[in-house]
Amino acid sequence: MKQNGFYAQSGGVTAVINASACAVLETARKHSDRIGKIYAGRNGIIGALTEDMIDTSLESDEAIAALRHTPGGAFGSARYKLKGLDENRAEYERLIEVFKAHDIGYFFYNGGGDSMDTAHKVSQLGSELGFPVTCVGIPKTVDNDLPVTDNCPGFGSVAKYVAVSTMEATLDVASMAKTSTRVFILEVMGRHAGWIAAAGGLAGKDPGSAPHIILFPEVPFDQPRFLARVHASVDRYEYCVVVVSEGLRHPDGRFVAEAGGQDAFGHAQLGGVASNVARLVKAELGLKYHYALADYLQRSARHIASAVDVRHAYAVGQKAVELALEGHTAIMTTIVRESDDPYRWSIGHVPLDQVANQEKMMPREFITEDGFGITEACRRYLEPLIVGEDYPPYLDGLPRYGGLGNIAVSPRLA
Ligand code: F6P
Repeated sequence: MKQNGFYAQSGGVTAVINASACAVLETARKHSDRIGKIYAGRNGIIGALTEDMIDTSLESDEAIAALRHTPGGAFGSARYKLKGLDENRAEYERLIEVFKAHDIGYFFYNGGGDSMDTAHKVSQLGSELGFPVTCVGIPKTVDNDLPVTDNCPGFGSVAKYVAVSTMEATLDVASMAKTSTRVFILEVMGRHAGWIAAAGGLAGKDPGSAPHIILFPEVPFDQPRFLARVHASVDRYEYCVVVVSEGLRHPDGRFVAEAGGQDAFGHAQLGGVASNVARLVKAELGLKYHYALADYLQRSARHIASAVDVRHAYAVGQKAVELALEGHTAIMTTIVRESDDPYRWSIGHVPLDQVANQEKMMPREFITEDGFGITEACRRYLEPLIVGEDYPPYLDGLPRYGGLGNIAVSPRLA
């Protein structure tokens, strides 16, 4: 008897997470002799807990295909942490109860490290309660901080956006430096890991080219050294371009800019580091500045997505369904790099317990000795991930993004 599947998006969305959703739905449709309907969680896992699921079988093939080029999370994503099994068994039991009521035997969870932990626990409890669920994680996070997988879908597109924006803003400030702005600062996401900030380094290769300074979360912020570097850059090139990670920390470990509050995973909400750094530059060096927060613009910029990233996102979703149908469970699909140049890759998989609740930081050998730039090794790693364009269709000058009906599955439980 074929069973149904459940797909949910989790955590911060990306420009390509819907390409993974598209792959899951299209692949499941191809194997409709072996897998039933795919239900999607409205607002991620919350949709399963509240039995508020979307029947994707009611969407046309065209609407599903359009997900491939549509940013955001098509069914809604959530920052919602299911706690440990011991503390919170009832919530996991509820999940299994909903799965049982709708004959859901496959769980595809599209998220980061915290979500892989949830998928792992669901796979454990399902078997324990006599309703085994095939659980497959699909990696996603712009932060690029999942271990084992070479990179995380979503990251390549943010990396491209940040590299291109750094390049373009540099041309602007370079034009104005003689009489106006001397320092431009771009704040990027990445929370505890500096992968996105590193991508700013792709904007220039030659010695002296911008960005002149990258501030990584992995390198404690040394104010005097930073100011001396800004001063030297302005002296030599007339201007200075800085890319700063939202996760920059003081030497004592405090974030330079904590926006206040925490999400459900206990992560501090970050934001505003660029304005702190800019004010410091003005106060100490008296230089005119502009700064920008790439914020949601960077992770939703589907119009400039990396073609490689879109392919990765689709492939990890497609393989998730194929592996589930082959009987694999409690795994996450991964991107395996086979060579840098030419860039060759394939899709592999890893047990969920090896990726759950972990964060992969930038290795020290990817950051230059002075702590302000990226090395050749880092460049070799990053370059293939931003290659190629995958433009959405345009109409009247605007991208034609897709939209779904998102019709609810009738509840069967109280
Ligand atoms: O999920 C990754 C991320 O984009 C981080 O880089 C960022 O700090 C965070 O999400 C922002 O989360 P939210 O959109 O929930 O405020």
